[in-house]
Amino acid sequence: MTAAGNDEETLAAPIAAAGATAGEGSPQRRAVELPRAYRLLNHGPVVLVSSAHGGRRNVMAASWSMPVDFDPPKVAVVIDKSTLTRELVEASGSFALNIPLRPLARATEIVGTDSGREIDKFAALDLGTFPADKIAAPLLAGCAGWLECKVIEEPHNQEAYDLFLAEVVAASADPALFSNGRWHFPPASPRTLHYIAGGAFFETGEAFTVAGEIV
Ligand SMILES: Cc1cc2nc3c(=O)[nH]c(=O)nc-3n(C[C@H](O)[C@H](O)[C@H](O)COP(=O)(O)O)c2cc1C
Repeated sequence: MTAAGNDEETLAAPIAAAGATAGEGSPQRRAVELPRAYRLLNHGPVVLVSSAHGGRRNVMAASWSMPVDFDPPKVAVVIDKSTLTRELVEASGSFALNIPLRPLARATEIVGTDSGREIDKFAALDLGTFPADKIAAPLLAGCAGWLECKVIEEPHNQEAYDLFLAEVVAASADPALFSNGRWHFPPASPRTLHYIAGGAFFETGEAFTVAGEIV
């Protein structure tokens, strides 16, 4: 997530450097305790999972989400059995993934710590919402993008791994931050968040392209 410092990188230097430095006993490689191994991948963009059913609505943080298909687009997200979100997602068969920006970092930590069973997180944190296009769950203001998702029932995965697969039935984004199919954060604009643990985040760094590959 750190800034690359240059607009373009050549392949030769990083590959040579990796080969020279990552061997056994190298100072560039040290064992990570297995219970913390997930943290090596944990800084994908954190999302806020919003849900609604039967007059109740809720929002929680999730670091464990990822795309799994292009067309129709599908995502996967882990939603623990203990959460109110799980109850509302199972009842409604849908949820939204809201991609928060840095001003929502504190709220992200809180909606990822407190349960909607005890407090109304929208009211307590003064979170703005607006209606989704295709699902009942509200979308959160102050986010960079929104994925409206309908659950693809996979009972074994849900029960054994708390893993929900879903089809993205509508998607939208702030055009100042995402257009022509890619993120491009203008200087000084708020960035999306990447969670480490214990209230620590990165924000998305500088964009760059590798030689000969403009996407
Ligand atoms: C940054 C962050 C990321 C989290 N990621 C996940 C996740 O991927 N899956 C999950 O089940 N819980 C995750 N949690 C924990 C839930 O957000 C937490 O249990 C939440 O309080 C559940 O709220 P609810 O009971 O109102 O649904 C995360 C918490 C934080 C702070």
